[in-house]
Amino acid sequence: MEKSLVIIKPDGVQRGLVGEILGRLERRGLRLVAMKMQSVSPELAARHYAVHQGKPFYDGLVSYISSSPVVVLAVEGNKAIEAVRQTVGATNPTAAAPGTIRADFGLEIGRNLIHASDGPETAAQELALWFGPEEFVSWSRDGERWVYEK
Ligand code: RTP
Ligand code: MG
Repeated sequence: MEKSLVIIKPDGVQRGLVGEILGRLERRGLRLVAMKMQSVSPELAARHYAVHQGKPFYDGLVSYISSSPVVVLAVEGNKAIEAVRQTVGATNPTAAAPGTIRADFGLEIGRNLIHASDGPETAAQELALWFGPEEFVSWSRDGERWVYEK
């Protein structure tokens, strides 16, 4: 099974959408394996968004993610990385498919509510950046035989 790193960004927390966003991931069948609320230092933001350094939106992105607390979580499941990205929707909320989190709750690319890992390598890096190994909980949901065929 795969793990993905999800961040409910400051706008998601400030707008009271933590439960809604978590609920969508849970209802999809994904298993929550780590979660915490925290402030994000500009240093941590810079490490998380290192790939975007030098881009025109970089400074705004780092100040956005550090502007107010976030909720950071890891979810696990078959094809979890792809499944979470699909539930999150395209980067720009007005280009995202209806029914996705970004389309249903957002209007601007710079306030798109949620981050999700975009591939196995970035997921591994991001999970190690945001969580220590002791913060992951190993468990199984009793209903998983009704989510997965095998
Ligand atoms: P994320 O990393 O937050 O899950 O978003 P993403 O993969 O869909 O998009 P990415 O290209 O990684 O961009 C990271 C975040 O930067 C902001 N952004 N602004 N103004 C712009 O053109 C622009 N482009 C990207 C968004 O907040 C995006 O989520
Ligand atoms: Mg990204």
